[in-house]
Amino acid sequence: MIIQEMLAQVRNLDSGDYAECGVYQGMSAEIIAASKHQDSFLYLFDTFKGHIGHGEFDHETSHPDGNYSDTSLEQVKERLKAFPNVIIISGDIRKGILNVLDGRKFRFVNVDVDLYEPTYAAIKFFKSHMVSGGIMRLDDYRIDDCPGATKAADELLEEINFVGHQVSWWTA
Ligand SMILES: C[S@@+](CC[C@H](N)C(=O)[O-])C[C@H]1O[C@@H](n2cnc3c(N)ncnc32)[C@H](O)[C@@H]1O
Repeated sequence: MIIQEMLAQVRNLDSGDYAECGVYQGMSAEIIAASKHQDSFLYLFDTFKGHIGHGEFDHETSHPDGNYSDTSLEQVKERLKAFPNVIIISGDIRKGILNVLDGRKFRFVNVDVDLYEPTYAAIKFFKSHMVSGGIMRLDDYRIDDCPGATKAADELLEEINFVGHQVSWWTA
């Protein structure tokens, strides 16, 4: 299922906000923002300084720390300024910043941070913050150069009957 089909599916749910971990220059964030209900919130998380957290489970040469640093919070804010209720939060998602969302529930979460540690942090937080019928999309699952992200998903999602999808942006 491509991202637009997932977004169409969750639009019919009664409630729930939207979130993305791994925003870069805001391409997928713009797709989500354009699809969401105006009164739902979209929370966007990124370091805006590129990857942080490359470790032992990640591809040796792909996705080094600092990759995807050619962006900024201001640039993404400008790109998304037409959309209401978009909150952009800058920081390392391994460091507890997702806890600002405690108490909120989500209908759609896009996890696209490529590396084991931040993927683990994102899935661990959001798996208990989804509404019934909500979709957590894992951009990097089973992608060859994202073994850490795949491992994080396999470790955390086993018990909730997760079915992984590999989706390319260029066909989305
Ligand atoms: C592949 S890019 C995201 C692409 C984006 N979804 C798009 O549509 O273009 C991965 C992003 O993950 C972010 N990232 C990596 N490690 C992170 C961490 N520890 N905390 C927050 N963001 C992180 C990087 O800064 C980068 O912008």
